[in-house]
Amino acid sequence: MSLKRTLGTCYYPEHWAEEIWSEDARRMADLGLTWIRIGEFAWSRLEPRPDDLHFDWLDRAIDILKGAGLKVVLGTPTATPPRWMLDKYPDMLAVDAQGRERRFGSRRHYCFSHDGYRDETIRITRLLAEQFGRKVDAWQTDNEYGCHDTIYSYSDAARRAFRDWLAQKYQSPDALNRAWGNVFWSMEYDSFDQIDLPNLTVTEPNPSHALDFRRFSSDQVARFNRAQVDAIRARSDAPISHNYMGRIVEFDHFATGRQMEIATWDSYPLGFLEDRLEDDADHKRRYARQGDPDFQAFHHDLYRAIGRDGRWWVMEQQPGPVNWAPHNPAPLPGMVRFWTWEAFAHGAECVAYFRWRQAPMAQEQYHAGLLRPDSVAAEGFAEAAQVAQELREMPDVEHGQAPVALVFDYASAWAWAVQPQGQGCDYFRLVFEVYRGLRKLGLSVDILPPDTASLDGYALVLAPGVITLRDELKAAIAATDAQVILGPRTNAKTADLGIPVPLPPALTGFDLTVARVETMRPDMPVLLEKGGHLTLWREQIETSEDVVEADAHGAPVLVRKGHLSYLAGWPDEVALSRILTRAAIAAGLSPQDLPPDIRIRDTGQTRFLFNHGPDPVEFDGHIIPPAGLIWLPT
Ligand code: GAL
Repeated sequence: MSLKRTLGTCYYPEHWAEEIWSEDARRMADLGLTWIRIGEFAWSRLEPRPDDLHFDWLDRAIDILKGAGLKVVLGTPTATPPRWMLDKYPDMLAVDAQGRERRFGSRRHYCFSHDGYRDETIRITRLLAEQFGRKVDAWQTDNEYGCHDTIYSYSDAARRAFRDWLAQKYQSPDALNRAWGNVFWSMEYDSFDQIDLPNLTVTEPNPSHALDFRRFSSDQVARFNRAQVDAIRARSDAPISHNYMGRIVEFDHFATGRQMEIATWDSYPLGFLEDRLEDDADHKRRYARQGDPDFQAFHHDLYRAIGRDGRWWVMEQQPGPVNWAPHNPAPLPGMVRFWTWEAFAHGAECVAYFRWRQAPMAQEQYHAGLLRPDSVAAEGFAEAAQVAQELREMPDVEHGQAPVALVFDYASAWAWAVQPQGQGCDYFRLVFEVYRGLRKLGLSVDILPPDTASLDGYALVLAPGVITLRDELKAAIAATDAQVILGPRTNAKTADLGIPVPLPPALTGFDLTVARVETMRPDMPVLLEKGGHLTLWREQIETSEDVVEADAHGAPVLVRKGHLSYLAGWPDEVALSRILTRAAIAAGLSPQDLPPDIRIRDTGQTRFLFNHGPDPVEFDGHIIPPAGLIWLPT
């Protein structure tokens, strides 16, 4: 499949007088944009009263955009049920863990388990697909599942659906009691109708109960999305997508991803740096106007894995200051172009800027667009124009297998969250630190789902923290010649979240037993013999395999047999760098110690060099401009 790199924007015709739509469309086309996403919040204008449909304005807007040569992504408006929906279904609201309703007046105020609301979403999606199925060029389901902490709902509808889900899974209360270990604290049930949602308990609920609730909640998202996909698919051949987010792990994106052609995500580098990362103040200060050097790249690689055949876009790209983070600085000049090229370097088909014109009303008034509210071009506009120009030189999407694979497993994120064992022990954080460590060595990375069945073509594979290894992945690890590093906490639990006996990680032919785990305060790191420390998480292991790393007292920390290694703790930056460098060399790769602001992405055809810092950097005989990039053919 040969695809072109394209640009786009998110447009809200319902926010503006119809007289300016044509001029907007002309300016979008002149700027070099291809894709325009519309409609995803417009339900109150599409259906102001139940069954009173007003699709005419949307039809005219689509005609105008298409008449200007643009392509249209139509979003289903189901993230914003209109006020009348609540009169019809007063119990459709999501309920938070404290038992409070999440009320009308913003967005995403629905519970995924409410059947009445779900039927309404199928109805509006079907009507839109009937009307526009042959007219639009792509679809988006809903908007950002999970945004504003909306996956978990503790409503009556959720309770009923959870009981059904449990009954299907376990078939009998006895089987559930055994799986959860409910004899502990006399938590046994006689019937599924006695089982509540795992909130408002006196102390922590049974972790197996909490984990099943997370699995159930993820399945509810997949079911909700599937209903929309089916309603569209019956009436349209256009590809379907959903716009995911950064560091949202509450539902399994691989499950929804398999339902659709394209994965997209919404990239807000400056907002994310402020509110989604553990890094210290110095790091956040240094990158306040550029964004974290690895966070966007990680998600680009993740969504490449989630999209079918690696198809992915950035559906919303930050074009200037946003409004929602604790602080909302403006990007350095050049960063809008930089972020766009970074996405293309990781294989994006399209980067669409959010939004076309800054809104002078309601919640996002201080969120930049490509245009100011007075329609004058904002700073990001010229940078988008520059990319449009540059795309003439590098038009084609480039995909190539990376030498390194990193497994990412949503179910492990839930298991860690349910049973972190120590403050700060978070699965995403662990995987992201490993990803960052690999990137600092100049390595390009593919992210793989946990049911990966073949590791062919990879030189180095890591699966930190994958709490229960699936049979497919176990077999792939046994079959590969790649260097593989497992641990900490890999294959540590049974599928029911119990401790297996024999004790973990129970890897065939590898003599290693995790005898005990401990977690540590951030100010009590464990010194390693070769320098650096373990922090947060540590495993006491019994082994007769080769010890590659030990702590300062000689206790084993990293052991190896053949191509397989196990890491029995959470390494700090220094220890991680040494461990990854050694493994990369053993894998036949050439790790480099990059300057702190530099990152590399190799596509097979092109090497991209990015400078995330505010000063020019000389590297490998090239000067890389501040907040800038260069690319070289390979
Ligand atoms: C996204 C959302 C958009 C808009 C944007 C602001 O999360 O999908 O609708 O709110 O954030 O940055």
